[in-house]
Amino acid sequence: MKYLKTGLAVAVGLSGLILASGSQSGEASGGDAARGQGVYGSTCVACHGAKGKGTIPGVPDFTKKKGVLAKSDQELFENIKNGFQSPGSFMAMPPLGGNPDLSDQDVRDVITYIRQKFGKD
Ligand code: HEC
Repeated sequence: MKYLKTGLAVAVGLSGLILASGSQSGEASGGDAARGQGVYGSTCVACHGAKGKGTIPGVPDFTKKKGVLAKSDQELFENIKNGFQSPGSFMAMPPLGGNPDLSDQDVRDVITYIRQKFGKD
């Protein structure tokens, strides 16, 4: 129980730090990275992987410099929400990662999370 409490305090402290640094750099998406992590873990990880490099062919590597995360928050938001297939691609990103329960805020949160976790710039 003692351990659990410490872990929680650390987690809360960390997400506070992440949020603070996000607002300092003028992050436009306004997402909550801690919530986004939950969304990623339940809906996106199967295809995009815990390391963001993709688990199956056709899935982009989020950690690649000047990769898909170089796009604007607005563009990523629309492509996650509506689904996306780049020209010549043999596999599409399903709308909302195939989870119709995700809200717009969930999408903003997960964008903030993947930028902080996997983004290079
Ligand atoms: C069924 C597998 C699958 C799931 C689940 C999935 N994705 Fe994707 N995602 C893909 C594929 C495949 C692409 C590349 C599509 C292409 O370029 O044609 C992609 C592309 C993307 C891109 C790049 C879009 C762009 O503009 O280039 C982002 C960002 C993304 N996914 C985020 C997410 C998030 C966030 C989730 C969870 C809510 C998620 N994905 C769930 C398969 C998936």
